[in-house]
Amino acid sequence: MRGTFFLFCFTTLFPTLSVSIDTLTSSQSLPTNQTLLSLNAIFELGFFSYSNSLYLGIWYKTSIKDNDPTVVWVANRDTPLQNSIGFLKIGDKGNLVIINQSQKPIWSSNETNGSNPILQLLDSGNLVLKEANENDPTKFLWQSFDYPTDTLLPGMKLGWDLDTGMEKHITSWRLTNQDPSSGDFSFKLDYRGLPEIFLYNKDQIIYRSGPWNGERFSGVPEMQPVTDSIKFTFFADQHQVYYTFSIGNSSLLSRLSVSSNGELQRLTWIQSTQIWNKFWYAPKDQCDSYRECGPYGVCDANASPVCNCISGFHPKNQQAWNLRDGSDGCVRNTKLACESDGFLHMMNLKLPETTSVFVNRSMGLVECRDLCIRNCSCTAYANIEITNGGSGCVMWFGELLDVRRYPSGGQDFYVRLAASDLDDIGVEGGSHKTSNTVKDVGIIVGVAAFILLAFGIFILWKKRKLQCLLKGKTEKRGFPERSQDLLMNERVFSSNREQSDESNLNDLELPLFDFNTITMATNNFSEENKLGQGGFGIVYKGRLMEGQNIAVKRLSKNSGQGVEEFKTEVKLIVKLQHRNLVRLLGCSIQMDEKMLVYEYMENRSLDAILFDKAKKSSLVWQRRFNIICGIARGLLYLHQDSRFRIIHRDLKASNILLDRDMNPKISDFGMARIFGTDQTEANTMRVVGTYGYMSPEYAMDGIFSVKSDVFSFGVLVLEIISGKKNRGFYYANKELNLLGHAWKLWTEGNALELIDSSIDNSYSPSEVHRCVQIGLLCVQERAEDRPTMSSVVLMLSSDTASMSQPKNPGFCLGRNPMETDSSSGKQEESCTVNQVTVTMLDAR
Ligand SMILES: *[C@@H]1O[C@H](CO)[C@@H](O)[C@H](O)[C@H]1NC(C)=O
Ligand SMILES: *[C@@H]1O[C@H](CO)[C@@H](O)[C@H](O)[C@H]1NC(C)=O
Ligand SMILES: *[C@@H]1O[C@H](CO)[C@@H](O)[C@H](O)[C@H]1NC(C)=O
Ligand SMILES: *[C@@H]1O[C@H](CO)[C@@H](O)[C@H](O)[C@H]1NC(C)=O
Ligand SMILES: *[C@@H]1O[C@H](CO)[C@@H](O)[C@H](O)[C@H]1NC(C)=O
Ligand SMILES: *[C@@H]1O[C@H](CO)[C@@H](O)[C@H](O)[C@H]1NC(C)=O
Ligand SMILES: *[C@@H]1O[C@H](CO)[C@@H](O)[C@H](O)[C@H]1NC(C)=O
Repeated sequence: MRGTFFLFCFTTLFPTLSVSIDTLTSSQSLPTNQTLLSLNAIFELGFFSYSNSLYLGIWYKTSIKDNDPTVVWVANRDTPLQNSIGFLKIGDKGNLVIINQSQKPIWSSNETNGSNPILQLLDSGNLVLKEANENDPTKFLWQSFDYPTDTLLPGMKLGWDLDTGMEKHITSWRLTNQDPSSGDFSFKLDYRGLPEIFLYNKDQIIYRSGPWNGERFSGVPEMQPVTDSIKFTFFADQHQVYYTFSIGNSSLLSRLSVSSNGELQRLTWIQSTQIWNKFWYAPKDQCDSYRECGPYGVCDANASPVCNCISGFHPKNQQAWNLRDGSDGCVRNTKLACESDGFLHMMNLKLPETTSVFVNRSMGLVECRDLCIRNCSCTAYANIEITNGGSGCVMWFGELLDVRRYPSGGQDFYVRLAASDLDDIGVEGGSHKTSNTVKDVGIIVGVAAFILLAFGIFILWKKRKLQCLLKGKTEKRGFPERSQDLLMNERVFSSNREQSDESNLNDLELPLFDFNTITMATNNFSEENKLGQGGFGIVYKGRLMEGQNIAVKRLSKNSGQGVEEFKTEVKLIVKLQHRNLVRLLGCSIQMDEKMLVYEYMENRSLDAILFDKAKKSSLVWQRRFNIICGIARGLLYLHQDSRFRIIHRDLKASNILLDRDMNPKISDFGMARIFGTDQTEANTMRVVGTYGYMSPEYAMDGIFSVKSDVFSFGVLVLEIISGKKNRGFYYANKELNLLGHAWKLWTEGNALELIDSSIDNSYSPSEVHRCVQIGLLCVQERAEDRPTMSSVVLMLSSDTASMSQPKNPGFCLGRNPMETDSSSGKQEESCTVNQVTVTMLDAR
């Protein structure tokens, strides 16, 4: 029997004799050579000794290997009984007391008001002081679960009771299995901001869990709630914040503890091999180390070196950085300019530290973004919860700390960047690895334009003149299939910001092509090289000496623009870069001859394939879906992410060009206008756009806004799904156009019938259904009802995003069914919308 307690160093001594009772009354006491056993003999309470020190503790009775029990709780870890025989008893003040041989208390719990309390060891491992026959846990006078040692058992809470200020955390032993006194490492919950749990070495944070995202900790992507096994819970309200876990099957033993060498570990008892298996542990790698890459750095364990700056930032201390010390972190390339900034969408991340963030759980992502962009000190935002498509709003102010990237399973996160940095990232294309769906979702809510009101009026006046001029031209010219017009004069600059941009632009090299180069590339503008004729000039295919294919638009001589003005415009448009926009490479100027040089698109325009009986079958559903998503992203960029808010005004299938891999690129910013940022709508003197894609408010009143583009986008989506033109499509009753037809099918619950019959069965019905719904939402009659492009992108990228039911579309009924879609020139058409007849110019 190992009942002697005066032995040599580091020998664990556990009494072998246990009384099979689980309860101690106030008249009894527990001597050092006896124990209490929980009802089903799962846990045992008693004294154990290390190197002549006696501790009162609780250990597993069932998982004892080599008579070396696993201690899960210690009462007097820092005040052991020395070389002595002692007792545990219930004190006069209703508290637990350990007394030594000379009846002196060497440890006691807090006083309670119990009248005749008893002590009981429960099967959960909880030692409780309570009135006899009281089984309501909330009425326990005292419980060991409120005072964890180094181990969190199922049902124990780690966190805060905010009403009483009581905190529960776990602290390592000084030496595992040798010295239970308080060690240096502890795992504590910080409830400020968005709560998360930190592992400390003394006062230094060495690891953090990341905030809870509804399913798991942001920094523990491998954490999977296993049904019937371990269930993790994180609870937060104004009274308490805690983390806990429970076990589905009580025959499974699992515990979370912090080891004396600073490792957080979840251990699970394997019955067959009789060992505690390390189920999970942290910190695992260099990137788990707190602030490894400093402010605005991103740690990626799979990269070498592991530290990188968030795009738009560069290392603060390049020298240290080169020596693989990233702790100084990164600084911005460009200072923030407040409301004209945008956001970089990052994915698969552990969210930055959240102790000083702003939190609103009832806000959605869109609201969150709006709030963030308006507060100039907001540096980033994200959803709080990832479940159900994401909810809640968390915003960071100031430095972003301890971000790491996972190969999968992390969270989405939006970092504020200056618009020019965002544009630069756009140029690089895939500068951050994890971009596949929504890349740089961003927003520009501009600055006030009051200063330049007069300037704006001047431009409007000028534009009016231009439009008359254009009208004159359209009446003379034909309008070919492919147009890549850039209506240069329609760019209105309207804020301080753009002025500063202009000065920046002047430093910038204007991408000028030599006229002779262009002449050679296009084979002296030969007829064979002609791709088409747009409203403002003929488009030629060309091939540079280096082998690069280009498209050259030779602008009509009377474009009414001075050379300097033209150069300024080109510099600006060249900056508009996105992988879903046709890229302007530069221009060429020779006397009064002006040319624009674009990248060449191998697969020409979408309409040539989509509406061609022979070719349309090559557009399988996945390809069509990719095209829809690409157009949405390109349009979002124009509306929000680019430095200027641009409304396309003539979005249509023939303006969607396809590259070699059938990626869509929006062309023809001819109608695009740059808005003063407080303007969201503007009146045009003359409606210019393409019939069939025009929103009712645009067609009728000449009012255009981003929502008019959304309408055109909706039409395009329905066309891509159905393979039919909105214009020129007539269903059996000859009354409905495509929108009417789609709406009819939708209301009848037959939305899937809209799909192009040339698409085989390899489509996802839910995806098609979602696209039809998005299409219909975009073509709703009232502009206010239509979603913004950022919502559209969200809805497209998430199959769990909530979508409202569409209301009826805005469309024209009773048109002449014989009308064709000829592109032979200008057409005057009449369309009756709500009894108002308008005449419009078809500038197709
Ligand atoms: C426990 O220790 C006490 C005091 O030393 C002794 O009297 C008693 O016999 C011991 N009990 C057992 C079961 O060993
Ligand atoms: C009992 O504890 C008291 C107070 O800590 C101490 O002064 C005394 O020496 C202890 N007695 C024994 C026998 O250890
Ligand atoms: C227990 O007592 C200590 C000191 O006497 C006190 O600081 C602590 O707040 C008490 N805890 C509770 C839960 O009352
Ligand atoms: C015990 O009762 C007294 C008086 O009723 C009260 O002031 C005190 O807070 C109570 N203490 C505890 C620990 O409940
Ligand atoms: C619990 O697990 C044990 C052993 O793995 C198994 O025999 C038992 O059926 C399980 N009980 C339940 C309720 O799942
Ligand atoms: C959180 O957001 C909701 C919805 O926007 C708003 O009604 C509420 O007032 C916000 N709460 C706080 C504390 O800001
Ligand atoms: C921005 O948010 C911070 C933190 O919530 C707040 O203190 C500050 O007043 C806000 N600033 C503005 C301009 O709203």
